[in-house]
Amino acid sequence: MALPKINPTKTQSWKNLLDHYEQNQNKHLRDLFATDPTRGERFSIQWKEFLVDYSKNIITDETLALLVNLANEVGLKDAISSYFQGDLINQTEGRAVLHTALRSKSAEEVLVDGKNVVKEVQEVKQKIKSFSDSVISGTKKGYTGKPFTDIVNIGIGGSDLGPVMVTEALKFYKNHLKVHFVSNVDGDHVQEVLKELDPETTLFIIVSKSFTTQETLSNALTIKKWFLKEASEEHIAAHFVAVSTNLSKIDEFGISQENVFPMWDWVGGRFSLWSAVGLSIALAIGYQNFDDLLSGAHEMDVHFKETDFEENIPVVLALLSVWYNNFYGAETEAIIPYSQYLHRFAAYLQQGIMESNGKSMDREGNRANYQTGTIIWGEPGTNSQHAFFQLIHQGTKLIPSDFIGFRKSLHGDVDHHNKLMANFFAQTEALMNGKNAEEVKEELMGQNLSKEDLDSILPYKIFEGNKPTNTILVEKLTPKNLGALVAMYEHKIFVQGIIWNIFSYDQWGVELGKQLAKNILNDIENSEIGKHDSSTLSLLQFFKK
Ligand code: F6P
Repeated sequence: MALPKINPTKTQSWKNLLDHYEQNQNKHLRDLFATDPTRGERFSIQWKEFLVDYSKNIITDETLALLVNLANEVGLKDAISSYFQGDLINQTEGRAVLHTALRSKSAEEVLVDGKNVVKEVQEVKQKIKSFSDSVISGTKKGYTGKPFTDIVNIGIGGSDLGPVMVTEALKFYKNHLKVHFVSNVDGDHVQEVLKELDPETTLFIIVSKSFTTQETLSNALTIKKWFLKEASEEHIAAHFVAVSTNLSKIDEFGISQENVFPMWDWVGGRFSLWSAVGLSIALAIGYQNFDDLLSGAHEMDVHFKETDFEENIPVVLALLSVWYNNFYGAETEAIIPYSQYLHRFAAYLQQGIMESNGKSMDREGNRANYQTGTIIWGEPGTNSQHAFFQLIHQGTKLIPSDFIGFRKSLHGDVDHHNKLMANFFAQTEALMNGKNAEEVKEELMGQNLSKEDLDSILPYKIFEGNKPTNTILVEKLTPKNLGALVAMYEHKIFVQGIIWNIFSYDQWGVELGKQLAKNILNDIENSEIGKHDSSTLSLLQFFKK
């Protein structure tokens, strides 16, 4: 079944939401809390080891009901079925979108073109398991008979960001293997990584779904050359493996078939960490932890597929995001994890969210006359408090923010964790309540200021408050909970794409730059520069001087 093609702004629910916004836009969270002591409890969802409190959003019961109506009116329920059952919902590339099948249980059936893909998925998982077990245990050895000490993941975009984010997030569970990532075509990146490595004990994983990506192939060739300074061609088999759908290109590179981990065109790059793209994850933290990551994501899939919209975490988060993006005119969303382990989480989600929903054509080929994809940014708390929080608190922009925190720390340092979490709770409370003129005045009165000084400083100390936040409080940063957290955002992306009537699973927008870069590389490498605008031309001339 194809996805519905409904312009959301033409729905009755959208019109109702517009009216509702007009009437309620000046409501303040502080008042909403004052008039309803049960608000915190009512606007929260408890699921497994998650408590998602969305009560600090500028909404009422009516807002939520209207947003749920919108989800119903755009056909979200059927769309979810199409997504999970392998319909070709990535219509512009003629593909299914089935990263959920990568974490489904072996007894399940997921059909692509009438074929159950779960069996193949399980086979690749088995291969990941035996390969990672043999490298970790040291039974698999390098060309001089030494066990591996270092792993290098060579890939970019979805073939890099997921593995980097997860290996950093789950560092606590890491074994002795050192994992490195080379992504940028900037030669300084690869050289810095190579500086630390010994070819005899390093395993290279070339990860590229297409196996045509300029950055990845250039880095892979540079690394191969470096390796061959010490070793010879026949040793490549012991040190290079590839993850890709493009088997013939891998062959050309010289990697033997048994060192290939296949993936499928129904797995989008930015949703691929659950496939063999996550091989570096399995190597870094062991297969069992990798499998737990997948199980957590699967549990979130089941929650998303089976729960009523009002109690459905990804659906509620998506609806709230639409509320601010399309009615309040908010353009960005911050993601603030209160865990240093999650320092790459926002960067990872930037690709997932912005490459998916950064679209302006609707599903009927018309330019959307409303806002779509949000801009995502963020850094861990408490560091971000000392960096950009000023703007969230007192700037002119509305920035809905997700606060992600954990009840228990991994190293068990209670003193630090209490301080960290005190900040976590304090920030959302401060953003919600703010501090009004009377409160500031009262505070300043105790400071022996002249009336003149008090009056002049007072406006700067006022916090408007009414800044929306979601609090996602999770028991502990385990592989399973991380898997669920990532899947939660994946499904939020899906819901928003359905509402905005766009295709979330292609990424044509990154192609033009790639094509032009190829032409410009010719201009740089040859004496003649081709036709360009005057700015690009003079920049190229200056560069080539
Ligand atoms: O940036 C575009 C993109 O196609 C991403 O979607 C993808 O994750 C990345 O390039 C890498 O692609 P590949 O895995 O084919 O090398």
